[in-house]
Amino acid sequence: SSAKMEKEPIRVLVTGAAGQIGYALVPLIARGQMLGPDQPVILHLLDIELAYEALNGVKMELIDAAFPLLKDVLATTDAMEACEGVNIAIMLAGFPRKEGMERIDVMSKNVLVVANPANTNALILKEFAPSIPEKNITCLTMLDHNRALSQIAEKLDVHVTDVKNVIIWGNHSSTLFPDISHATVSTSTDADKPVRELVADDHWFNKEFITTVQQRGAAIIKARKLSSAMSAASAACDHIRNWGTWVSMGVYSDGSYGVQRGLIYSFPVTCENGEWSIVQGLKIDEFSRTKMDATEKELIEEKELAYSCLY
Ligand code: LMR
Repeated sequence: SSAKMEKEPIRVLVTGAAGQIGYALVPLIARGQMLGPDQPVILHLLDIELAYEALNGVKMELIDAAFPLLKDVLATTDAMEACEGVNIAIMLAGFPRKEGMERIDVMSKNVLVVANPANTNALILKEFAPSIPEKNITCLTMLDHNRALSQIAEKLDVHVTDVKNVIIWGNHSSTLFPDISHATVSTSTDADKPVRELVADDHWFNKEFITTVQQRGAAIIKARKLSSAMSAASAACDHIRNWGTWVSMGVYSDGSYGVQRGLIYSFPVTCENGEWSIVQGLKIDEFSRTKMDATEKELIEEKELAYSCLY
């Protein structure tokens, strides 16, 4: 028998790592949920001075958990140090201070923004880190995507993995549009039936479903007195991991589907070799158009507000 060559570790930066989502996310990364079961990782954990003790506690627990894939852990409040040699950055909270931005700028790798307002934060990052290819900056709407899948699965009494081609359009906010016009369900008895045919109840789709997905974040906050963390962390892993299926991601708009160029807008995407591309050629009906425009309008307003603060 020959020893298998181990892969080079991937360095993952998590900002705001001492927070709720961080606490849920770092063990998933260390267990291979984000990058795969044979991919060693080195975690770079960044948080603010005030959270340094807690951050160190998280580091201690990571060590205590003896994760086979976890090769090293760096816990720091220094953004420059945190960004050194990083391959993937997951931004859960805040932004590295100005000085750190330069380093983030240099790393030219993949950045996933989770911190709200996620789309507009990603847009600001794109603005201030021009050397990161715009393709490499994305924001999380996989959480909303998963919420939509599970609502449909529950309604149709199928498993969540039986539901495909749901779309989240627009902003990660209460204006997002969860679109099931192209969604299908395949079970052991039926292959790829349109969800629209299976849900006869238009009211459920047009009102209840959309509102539930849009308001789910608020419902979690109401119930937990804290915003979603476990599901957000899991969705962040789904976002980075290439599942070979149609997913939703906040990405810069190239003008597809008439969405203003340059906005970070959630589209349906497929991923190949670590690169996303927007699913093209979908028919958009009038109802969807109205909803897609409303969430675009909100993003344009957020952009104007952000820029008015920045310049
Ligand atoms: C979520 O969707 O669960 C969060 O973005 C809600 C929030 O405002 O923190």
